[in-house]
Amino acid sequence: MAASTLSPATNPSQLCSSKNGMFGTSQASILKPTRTQVLGKEKSLRITCEAGSIPADRVPDMGKRQLMNLLLLGAVSLPTAGMLVPYAAFFVPPGSGGAGGGIIAKDAFGNDVIASEWLKNHGPGDRTLTQGLKGDPTYLVVESDRTLATYGINAVCTHLGCVVPWNAAENKFICPCHGSQYNNQGRVVRGPAPLSLALAHADIDDGKVVFVPWVETDFRTGEAPWWA
Ligand code: FES
Repeated sequence: MAASTLSPATNPSQLCSSKNGMFGTSQASILKPTRTQVLGKEKSLRITCEAGSIPADRVPDMGKRQLMNLLLLGAVSLPTAGMLVPYAAFFVPPGSGGAGGGIIAKDAFGNDVIASEWLKNHGPGDRTLTQGLKGDPTYLVVESDRTLATYGINAVCTHLGCVVPWNAAENKFICPCHGSQYNNQGRVVRGPAPLSLALAHADIDDGKVVFVPWVETDFRTGEAPWWA
């Protein structure tokens, strides 16, 4: 810490002395006067300067500071974007992967369902679960002529949402939770379920089974689809 006496004509921000020499304008402006006294008629100022600031030759210039800011921004934003993208993708419905806003059916292993391969391993009357629209379990139906039905049956019970298993012996879907029953096309035949199982179109696109939302009349009831 050092002290000096300045004449009134001298702007303290322009000049401040210390044992180490003189400070220029840029340094003086950041020095902190801790005590000011007016001395007699000469009105000279005694200013005590604290020389704890960074010397001018050690302060990074503006170009370097901007470069460091950019590097810091990049270092923070890249990992942040890397985390945000998968987080945002979580809220996006599964990609269509097919025509008309549909979704490719997935088997139990998460593989795309290839129609020809499926029919090799599933005989007439088969109803096997696949992953359908919005990830709902959906039955693929093999008709008696060994072709795939043009509709899939959503396996979510319309009572309280249990997954309804296919009972080949009874030729029905029978819910294990409260006993609701649906015929082999998913039409409700016994409560407490109030509605038939939902439908989806099961199209074949480039050899793969694609589920597409069913918005037309429910062919089982002749009514508008309750799920659309
Ligand atoms: S959830 Fe299926 S009958 Fe209740």
